[in-house]
Amino acid sequence: KEIFLKDYKSPDYYFDTVDLRFSLGEEKTIVASKITVFPRVEGSSAPLVLDGVDLKLISIKVDGKELKEGDYHLDLRHLILPSPPQGKFTLEIDTEIQPQNNTSLEGLYKSSGNFCTQCEAEGFRKITFYQDRPDIMAKYTCRIEADKLLYPVLLSNGNLIEQGTLEGGKHYAVWEDPFKKPCYLFALVAGQLESRDDTFVTRSGRKVALRIWTPAQDVPKTAHAMYSLKAAMKWDEDVFGLEYDLDLFNVVAVPDFNMGAMENKSLNIFNSKLVLASPETASDADYAAILGVIGHEYFHNWTGNRVTCRDWFQLSLKEGLTVFRDQEFSSDMGSRTVKRIADVSKLRNYQFPQDAGPMAHPVRPHSYIKMDNFYTVTVYEKGAEVVRMYKTLLGTQGFRKGMDLYFKRHDGQAVTCEDFFAAMKDANGADFANFLLWYSQAGTPVVKVTSSYNAEAHTFSLKFSQEVPPTPGQPVKEPMFIPVAVGLLDSSGKDMPLSSVYHDGTLQSVASNNQPVLSTVLRVTKKEEEFVFCDIFERPIPSLLRGYSAPIRLESDLSDSDLFFLLAHDSDEFNRWESGQVLARKLMLSLVADFQQSKPLTLNPKFVQGLKSILCDPSLDKEFIAKAITLPGEGEIMDMMEVADPDAVYAVRTFIRKELASQLKSEFLSTVENNRSSEEYVFDHTNMARRALKNTALAYLGSLEDSEMTELALHEYKTATNMTDQFAALSAISQKPGKTHDDVLADFYTKWQHNYLVVNKWFALQAMSNIPGNVENVRKLLNHPAFDLRNPNKVYSLIGGFCGSPVNFHAKDGSGYKFLGEIVLQLDKLNPQVASRMVSAFSRWRRFDESRQTLAKQQLETIMSANGLSENVFEIASKSLA
Ligand code: ARG
Ligand code: ZN
Repeated sequence: KEIFLKDYKSPDYYFDTVDLRFSLGEEKTIVASKITVFPRVEGSSAPLVLDGVDLKLISIKVDGKELKEGDYHLDLRHLILPSPPQGKFTLEIDTEIQPQNNTSLEGLYKSSGNFCTQCEAEGFRKITFYQDRPDIMAKYTCRIEADKLLYPVLLSNGNLIEQGTLEGGKHYAVWEDPFKKPCYLFALVAGQLESRDDTFVTRSGRKVALRIWTPAQDVPKTAHAMYSLKAAMKWDEDVFGLEYDLDLFNVVAVPDFNMGAMENKSLNIFNSKLVLASPETASDADYAAILGVIGHEYFHNWTGNRVTCRDWFQLSLKEGLTVFRDQEFSSDMGSRTVKRIADVSKLRNYQFPQDAGPMAHPVRPHSYIKMDNFYTVTVYEKGAEVVRMYKTLLGTQGFRKGMDLYFKRHDGQAVTCEDFFAAMKDANGADFANFLLWYSQAGTPVVKVTSSYNAEAHTFSLKFSQEVPPTPGQPVKEPMFIPVAVGLLDSSGKDMPLSSVYHDGTLQSVASNNQPVLSTVLRVTKKEEEFVFCDIFERPIPSLLRGYSAPIRLESDLSDSDLFFLLAHDSDEFNRWESGQVLARKLMLSLVADFQQSKPLTLNPKFVQGLKSILCDPSLDKEFIAKAITLPGEGEIMDMMEVADPDAVYAVRTFIRKELASQLKSEFLSTVENNRSSEEYVFDHTNMARRALKNTALAYLGSLEDSEMTELALHEYKTATNMTDQFAALSAISQKPGKTHDDVLADFYTKWQHNYLVVNKWFALQAMSNIPGNVENVRKLLNHPAFDLRNPNKVYSLIGGFCGSPVNFHAKDGSGYKFLGEIVLQLDKLNPQVASRMVSAFSRWRRFDESRQTLAKQQLETIMSANGLSENVFEIASKSLA
């Protein structure tokens, strides 16, 4: 059942054309497929093995001749033709499926009465028998037939070539996709939908019709998605020279969707929460997510669709690259520094723990039981960091050359991560040393740096050592190729000009065109290595790993005063934020130790002073300030502890927040006052930054036991004219139990009960609460009329939200673990993909104290012993216990 990368074999048969005919019905749906098949090697007599799950086979024909039982083998997962004809032949298969009963939300299923599909990774096998693997690329046509009143809109990939009415109140449409594609990019949508229409003219003059489809009442909420799509199309032309290649681009929003969205050729299907937005109902974070994901799916048209993956182990080839592209797009549309900070925080809070736990896997995994379990932060976010390192090493133009060569070589192909590496390397004649290890070694490298200044020789030395921790299946690691971007600050806080550096006994110039540079990229490739900067005339403060140039944990010998200096002066804004975070992490860890020894907690006044000067610096970007005054998350701190102590980390973080709030109360108050606005909501950087700063300040004030502050938050709640401000005020209030808390939550529900996306925010806010004993409230919410275990968004809000609470999920009495254990088993019967995402919350159980370990382990064991467990949950639970 476990599948290995090393076992990859080319298919024995390829498919040339695929004609699909769907007859959509309430009781059953008939799928007729007609495939032209040809052997990879002429004259081969290998069996043809087709994948198929939950399908009822009706008939099968080879070259027009019906096969009888015995001519083929059928098991629970396959249809096998033991001896197909030699040479090219046609294969016709009719199957019956029941989309209305498909709660797994993969394959063809119904969402709010409409039909839709999700085929990646291996969902196409739930639609018809097929070689369900991405290296089978074929040209598709798709004829859809359905009731005209119930399903007025019929969509599939490519161009609409025919449509008409049929008897019995039915109608049909025929779609043709001129591009070869793997079956995971197939899509079909049928239902009562309306569209927002627009056009985009590509730079070579192609007029593209753009349509975003939703139920009629939601069409007004698609303006931002349309804006985002047009911006993405333009950006890809400007930055990568990539144009759209068809005359039509459809986006459909569906309320029931396992993931965020899917890049099906010319028919992207989205989770509604990543399409629908209005100022009243969506927050700035939602607007930003929509921009990023609309961009992400659009960018897949080239990085994923035109050039796809040979096999699923190569997933990061398309996902890491496309995440990198959407990150860059969002950076260019907003603030680069702030976007970088957000992306690095995500990596630290989610990917680092994965890389240090039982599910650790390389960016290109070596094996899997269920591919769906590998749509991970490692493949996506660490994969994007790997792509970013090429750009750091090659520069913008070199990276572009590599991309151009990649498309020139591989358009229309299904390729591997080595092919991408080779394009980058060959286009630039670059020496990438052992860079490929980033694809095969799991674990976050730990890099230690020590610095020393030689006042006589005018040299400054940086000594690096690196260690890649062992991970499951990989006890011993090789040193990696780590690009470390560095600058040196002089005593006035300015970057020193860098002229040359000694490395391995040879003197290298770092100047470009004889011009000294202010920042350079050191190529760290060995276990231990020294770089010596020459002509350094005073002791510098090094700014290390600028822009976070590699996905590593950096441990430097910088003192607190060096860090405060960098926080105040570094020209690399990312590192200004980072210095503050390093200080905060150190501070939090030392207070956690105090807390554990029952020592009184006191806050270092220098830290308060440092944050105050950031908060009150009018020259800084407001969103940057908001990020810089936000403490590292509980998860990040627990991740750095020998034994994670959720109570201590929570107590300390809360203590620091309150302490900052009371010591900087007047600053926070004036921040709130000065950043209100009665103007109409605008989604642009200036306004988002203003709201972010105001709401961060409000959250601090809301942590105080001070009725005036509760009144302030209540006032903000009542006067808010958009969801960002309203929800921020609600969150500020909900930090403390009490009547105001209960009343405002009830008011919010009453106001928004008819908008399921807003109701999900309401679920999430309550679920994440750190008010002790909250598990009971969450249990009650399971029975709330607005909750539904079959809808993934609701599960992610309520159950996922709960697992984010250090206090309640990790409650000492095991009540949080028990709750999750029960839910996972219920969910698994409905939707294994969602159940598996939820069970992952247990995977770090070994990080906690013995009593928590016992309690969590019990739950995992109960799950493992359940009958009919899905492969999805089995893989996560068994690997967690291993
Ligand atoms: N390719 C999609 C995206 O990242 C995600 C599909 C996820 N599917 C899954 N079964 N996990 O844009
Ligand atoms: Zn993607």
